[in-house]
Amino acid sequence: MSNTTPPAPETPPSSPYGTLPPASPLASRKPVSLPRLADMHARGEKIAMLTAYDATFAAMADAAGIDCLLVGDSLGMVCQGLNSTVGVSLDTMRYHTDSVSRGLRRVQGTTWLIADLPFGSYQESREQALRSAPVLMQAGAHMVKLEGGGWTAPLVRALVERGIPVCAHLGLTPQSVHALGGYRVQGRDDDAAQTLRAHATELAAAGAAMLVLELMPSALAGELAAALPIPVIGIGAGPACAGQVLVLHDMLGITPGTLPRFVRNFMHDGGAIADGVRRYVAAVKDGSFPDPARHGY
Ligand code: KIV
Repeated sequence: MSNTTPPAPETPPSSPYGTLPPASPLASRKPVSLPRLADMHARGEKIAMLTAYDATFAAMADAAGIDCLLVGDSLGMVCQGLNSTVGVSLDTMRYHTDSVSRGLRRVQGTTWLIADLPFGSYQESREQALRSAPVLMQAGAHMVKLEGGGWTAPLVRALVERGIPVCAHLGLTPQSVHALGGYRVQGRDDDAAQTLRAHATELAAAGAAMLVLELMPSALAGELAAALPIPVIGIGAGPACAGQVLVLHDMLGITPGTLPRFVRNFMHDGGAIADGVRRYVAAVKDGSFPDPARHGY
């Protein structure tokens, strides 16, 4: 028998910039995993998700009780100052995923971590998707997200068969903003709604374990959320989804300019950022966000 003592947990070094908290107050919370998300979905417990792009915000959101963090390619706009997500590279996604994952590890975080496959990293072929996704998984992601309809089903299947959980993304898919003619509500007419129904069914059948629906009529999103066997996470898709996601900087009210109507500023009453995130988690869980009258289409 070995008499070596196990390594002490990593403790953050002190620095003039402050330290991350040594352990999450929720350290006793079980890690969020795919079975746990499926269980929350089955029990009707709402899933609270936010974006995160760096270690500090990731640790703070974890301590505030967030279920899932998404290293979204929205970081192109939020962190890089781009005017769309089209210019975000796989290497940039790897860098931010690594930072967020390290932030979570430092606090022994329990949050499920999803990372976006950026534009140009999977559109070419199944093989390209199979090369790109491991880059994000090795940076610490638990799941990758990709945008698009039925054409992505073979990619989803290939990734899932190789042990890489996938979140699909339908509705307003920002990587296609130029093809869509802007950031517009999707699925308003019968044909478009029918196409979305078909694509959602196909992606779930291909093995996607989660689906993000962005900017679509609340009634259609609610119908899909009820029909699909996987958790549907909405953003601008109404209150009937299994969970909600927002861009962190939007819900903290620090994004400059006019925000889409589906955003609620959780810092409206001031206070600490961590309290704003806690208010968001509580509002998603108790169903008071989104409010159909104010945040829906
Ligand atoms: O990139 C992102 O942040 C996203 C969410 C807003 C869904 O895809």
